Amino acid sequence: MSFFAVKGGRRLTGEVAVRGAKNSVLPILAATLLNAGENVIHNCTDLRDVGSAIKILEHLGCRVKREGDTLTVDSAPANRFDVPEDLMREMRSSVIFLGPMIARFGKARVFAPGGCELGPRPIDLHLDALSKLGVRIENRGGEMVCEAREMRGRDIVLRFPSVGATENVMLAATACKGTTRIINAAREPEIADLQSFLLKTGASVCGGGKSEITVTGGRTDKRAEHTVLPDRIEAATYLCAAAACGGKIRLLNTEPEHLGMIVSELSEAGCEISSDKDSVTVERSGVLRAMPRISTMPYPGFPTDAQAQLMAAACVAQGTTVFCENIFENRFRHVPELIRMGADIRVSGNTAIVGGVKSLHGASVKCTDLRGGAALVIAAMAAEGESVINDVYHIDRGYEHMEKAYASLGAMIERKEA
Ligand code: EPU
Repeated sequence: MSFFAVKGGRRLTGEVAVRGAKNSVLPILAATLLNAGENVIHNCTDLRDVGSAIKILEHLGCRVKREGDTLTVDSAPANRFDVPEDLMREMRSSVIFLGPMIARFGKARVFAPGGCELGPRPIDLHLDALSKLGVRIENRGGEMVCEAREMRGRDIVLRFPSVGATENVMLAATACKGTTRIINAAREPEIADLQSFLLKTGASVCGGGKSEITVTGGRTDKRAEHTVLPDRIEAATYLCAAAACGGKIRLLNTEPEHLGMIVSELSEAGCEISSDKDSVTVERSGVLRAMPRISTMPYPGFPTDAQAQLMAAACVAQGTTVFCENIFENRFRHVPELIRMGADIRVSGNTAIVGGVKSLHGASVKCTDLRGGAALVIAAMAAEGESVINDVYHIDRGYEHMEKAYASLGAMIERKEA
């Protein structure tokens, strides 16, 4: 089992390139099923979750080849429409294969998906919407057996702008007769990226990235070549790290316009941030100040996926920062671990009150989930002394060799095997 050994107290300096977005590549890999042909996807980071998506594609009969950061998926030979329970449990995004399997084969068999334990993560919005499009869904002892004889497009109103449900409906709707309108769709940049990929397969989709998306069913049989957008959460993580540790770093291969909320919070905290077309520079030379209330919201609000990392920075800021988590019920599991490092945090329901301390100290801690793990690394790099961060397999789900990126910025961090 891998762990990170971190010696804290070093400022970060230098440049690091941000990789392709995990939450974009996963739905795009699922969407490669649609064209029954060749798909070439660039900027696919080698993450544990991407590995899980590849296993699912191969199980379905696709041929997948990796050359560097490019994945070629030939979905012509796909001939299965089930995802076994062990593969479903490997990650939450396994559920995104449901829409493409139904679109391609008219049927699908899946189990409840796994993923980070962030509280109950139901898939009712996915299933309700698919059944409105004409999919019959039967739960047979945990296995969801889905069948669609004839799917018809219609208006789908989501009661919450769920990212995954928006993606599943977009994907299934490519095979519906007529037009589907998704109302109150998620507006995350990853949805717009999925739309760009779908357009390359010949699909008729518009509105991706806005709250109303229109999909007209038809052919999706073109060869598609696509470059995945940069990971805004990986970028946000490095920005928080620089804020916590001090120093000056430049992120390359970023989309500054996707980082609006995190940039505005860190600027309030006293960081100097500038950007050009595809890079962002952050410098923190003076004291880090507490931020006004941070409330997580669907995009373009403050991302829940950056809440833990910003909290790690707030732990060493001057003053009190209040975090309000509105997306997931159980996304403060990193708090007890931060407290082990000397943080002053009180949690009540979905609110965490962080009193900044002069310095954190090294400790032995455990990653509880992907972003919580990323927060512990930030805290350890900002702390005085040595830390051991266990269970880094959570971090590997969403960051490719995070320790190498930080080491290249001057941090003292090493991956070791227990
Ligand atoms: N929800 C329902 N019913 C549903 C679907 C969602 O009640 O059928 C609720 C969830 O329980 C949650 C909220 O809606 O409280 C948001 O869930 P959403 O469906 O938007 O999230 P997701 O699609 O499961 C994606 C990202 C998450 C990210 C969220 C929110 C991927 C692969 N995952 O999850 O990423 O936190 O959107 O932005 O795209 C991560 O990368 O660390 C991560 C957890």
